[in-house]
Amino acid sequence: MAKKIRMGFIGCGGNASGHVKRVMETLKNDVEVVALNDTSQASLDRLFERLPDAKGLPTFSDYKEMIKKMELDAVEISTPHTLHFEQIMASMDAGLHVLTEKPMVSFVIGLGITYCGTEVRESENIPPRNSI
Ligand SMILES: NC(=O)c1ccc[n+]([C@@H]2O[C@H](COP(=O)([O-])OP(=O)(O)OC[C@H]3O[C@@H](n4cnc5c(N)ncnc54)[C@H](O)[C@@H]3O)[C@@H](O)[C@H]2O)c1
Repeated sequence: MAKKIRMGFIGCGGNASGHVKRVMETLKNDVEVVALNDTSQASLDRLFERLPDAKGLPTFSDYKEMIKKMELDAVEISTPHTLHFEQIMASMDAGLHVLTEKPMVSFVIGLGITYCGTEVRESENIPPRNSI
């Protein structure tokens, strides 16, 4: 059997809780939810109320720590959209696949750079993201 995709969730509010449920139920043969990140314990508690099966999963208040420790293949990002750009880029820089929803980012140059990814950004001499 093919290896399952190891997925972590960045942001576990209303949108993510539906997605965690669908991944755990519908995609369970291909994808494993292995960790959850949210800065709010109340959001995680609401998700666990809705989805008792997710209760034993490791949780992190810092998404970078989750990425570092959990050997993920992919993340889904479901935080307020002003945070997406930084979180998408940090995840891609860590070699992860990223799923996020609309709005993907908050400004057009961010979209271009996110779309290009790190290697193209460097080869095309696009400014580093901290200079935007
Ligand atoms: N709710 C929907 O039906 C829906 C549909 C499509 C797209 N979206 C998009 O999904 C995203 C999230 O929306 P939502 O409705 O779930 O909002 P929400 O407020 O219910 O959830 C956002 C979660 O992100 C957490 N968060 C905030 N800062 C964080 C950080 N630095 N690190 C980790 N977690 C952090 C919050 O504590 C909260 O639990 C938005 O971009 C929204 O546009 C939502």
